[in-house]
Amino acid sequence: DKTVKLAVIAGDGIGPEVIAEAEKVLDAATAGSGILFEKTRFALGAARFLETGDTLTDEDLTAIKSHDAILLGAVGGVPGDARLKNANIERGLLLKLRFELDHYVNLRPSKLYPGAPGPLAAPGDIDFVVVREGTEGPYVGNGGSIRRGTPHEIANETSVNTAFGVERVVRYAFDLAERRRKKLTLVHKTNVLVHAGAIWQRIVDEVAREHPHVAVDYLHVDAATIFLVTNPGRFDVIVTDNLFGDILTDLAGAVTGGIGLAASGNINPDGAFPSMFEPVHGSAPDIAGQQKADPTAAILSIALLLDHLGLREESARVTRAAEDDIAARDGAARTTAQIGDSIASRVRA
Ligand code: NAD
Ligand code: IPM
Ligand code: MN
Repeated sequence: DKTVKLAVIAGDGIGPEVIAEAEKVLDAATAGSGILFEKTRFALGAARFLETGDTLTDEDLTAIKSHDAILLGAVGGVPGDARLKNANIERGLLLKLRFELDHYVNLRPSKLYPGAPGPLAAPGDIDFVVVREGTEGPYVGNGGSIRRGTPHEIANETSVNTAFGVERVVRYAFDLAERRRKKLTLVHKTNVLVHAGAIWQRIVDEVAREHPHVAVDYLHVDAATIFLVTNPGRFDVIVTDNLFGDILTDLAGAVTGGIGLAASGNINPDGAFPSMFEPVHGSAPDIAGQQKADPTAAILSIALLLDHLGLREESARVTRAAEDDIAARDGAARTTAQIGDSIASRVRA
């Protein structure tokens, strides 16, 4: 029998609600398979900070590193909550995990499943993956402010783009495109962000020469948002920086049936550190505690986790069960647990 050590960070708001359902589905998919998921729960997030003042201790980080993979719900409180100002849960916990565990590929697939309530009148086939760089860009926190409290205050946020960091994620994106429809779109803003844009464009051009069968194109990020709505079928693999990827993938979620369906993986392809799987959405304080959250994004993140661990059969069963559940939806309201139960029972069937 194989044992997989899984770190579970349910987090805040709807995090614990959707993770409970994801765990049901994981258990259903692996029951009787001979693979044992040994779970360690980490109480991390805004709630933990308010209780103890800790965001992510060195002990937490060391313990998390000793796992094979991580399942995360969502972390963060109500945007603007003054009590969390000094914690910066997003940077001190979520981004710290992504950076420390070198999750340089933030993989965010977008697929319009039959029956999903997409908002587009004529969506056509939507099936693309955003390969979002996960460890650099404006997220590095290489900025600062001076003269605060004066009329001359200056705030800077520097976007860090290294040749090493860009090349490794671009290579991942090309390899993925080779296994898909062989189309890669670089999204950036090279007309304005000329330095960062130049390194991304040059490296994409260089790596493209090694992939003569992959069709490569480029879009400025503003234009990309147009095509995500008017012609999303044109995309196969999108490669982009950390911030553009964040914004595009909330939009991509919205056009493929809602943010409640959008899954993601923070991957360390080299396997030096555990990869982390989580829904694209946040802790949704506006609906937390009401069993209103759709757990499908968390459940599809389980499918990505299983696939990453090489459990392809189990992964495919989870995806199929979620797909069947989506296809059977009739618009009637269901609780978070009802959706989870329905998908888990389809996995078992
Ligand atoms: P959000 O994604 O939490 O919510 C945006 C909107 O989408 C809300 O109306 C919410 O109700 C809805 N929504 C989100 N998930 C849903 C689901 N599963 N089913 C149905 N509706 C859903 O974004 P936000 O409001 O900007 O952020 C709230 C908090 O979450 C903030 O503290 C933010 O920093 C944090 N956040 C965390 C993560 C993460 O942990 N990975 C991701 C995004 C935001
Ligand atoms: C996401 C979130 C995070 C991000 C925040 C909470 C730091 O929006 O996972 O998409 O910007 O990456
Ligand atoms: Mn986001």
